[in-house]
Amino acid sequence: MSVVDTLRELKEQVDKELNDLNGSAGLEALRVKVLGKKGELTALLKGMGQLAPEERPKVGAQINEVREWLTERMNQRLNAIQAAEREAAIQSEIIDVTEPHDLPVTGSAHPITLVMDELIDCFSGLGFEVMEGPEVELDHYNFELMNLPKNHPARDAQDTFYMDDNIVLRTHTSPMQARAMLTRKPPIRIICPGRVYRADEVDATHSPVFHQMEGLVVDENVSMSDLRGTLEAFAKKLYGADVSTRFRPSFFPFTEPSAEVDLTCSACHGKGCRICKDTGWVEVLGCGMVNPKVLEMCGIDSHKYSGFAFGIGLERIAMKRYGLTDMRLLYEGDARLLGQLR
Ligand code: DAH
Repeated sequence: MSVVDTLRELKEQVDKELNDLNGSAGLEALRVKVLGKKGELTALLKGMGQLAPEERPKVGAQINEVREWLTERMNQRLNAIQAAEREAAIQSEIIDVTEPHDLPVTGSAHPITLVMDELIDCFSGLGFEVMEGPEVELDHYNFELMNLPKNHPARDAQDTFYMDDNIVLRTHTSPMQARAMLTRKPPIRIICPGRVYRADEVDATHSPVFHQMEGLVVDENVSMSDLRGTLEAFAKKLYGADVSTRFRPSFFPFTEPSAEVDLTCSACHGKGCRICKDTGWVEVLGCGMVNPKVLEMCGIDSHKYSGFAFGIGLERIAMKRYGLTDMRLLYEGDARLLGQLR
């Protein structure tokens, strides 16, 4: 067969194979088979030595022409195949965002946890350190060191669950005051968030399990104005600059003097509404100057040191924050509600 015939056949054969191809890998194999070092066209070039010298330029030109044609054809085909491959990749990666599907259920932090974290954040900024302690507490810490001796009438307001005569579920976070004073030296500046218990019936404003955050500062020359300033800063940081605090005289055995603190109702800005029972104020905490008797019982020299303490009800803050009038909503665990309180 003449070189010309071989070239024509090669062109036809490659053209057909190119049309049948549908992947860039196959095309590369074909390129090697025809144009590669050991390829069919290369073999023809190598075989030119056997031709008569006068034929060589003509045949050489024909081979080169076919090489160019094949190269051009292969490039065209490669472009087409690559475009098709890209298109197929795009198609396979398309996500139909309108297709119905089950969203994974993501949880959210409980509103009490959110409020607790926020208060911790706020008091940390004022230089307080977080200290945690046991929920199953000795009567000694929960009551006696808080100046509530056995049979003291003020114990009635904090009836709790007794494990035995000396071990109770703590009724408040105040025993942490004693734990802090007995293990640390002034200056003491701590907050103690946690769960507390009382033998109360469940209703819209009571639960046998709830949360408090205790605060305690003991140092030289601590005064009532430090207490006011601290709580004022806390209220404004939490609710904004237009919130006011109101101190009402009160009684707690472990503080003297004692006060209860109200904040401007955030629902009505003090005008009076359902949430604040038309008073314009919402009670959020009890506080006072640490009773010198408590300081002494906890090993602190009450002539040298003084202190203030406060106990914040976290449920109160959460209810105020989310405009809830029934505390039970916080404990029912209804994900439809809790997911909205963020
Ligand atoms: N322990 C009190 C209670 O549970 C709250 C309280 C009042 C804590 C006054 C304090 C305080 O530290 O100074 O009702």
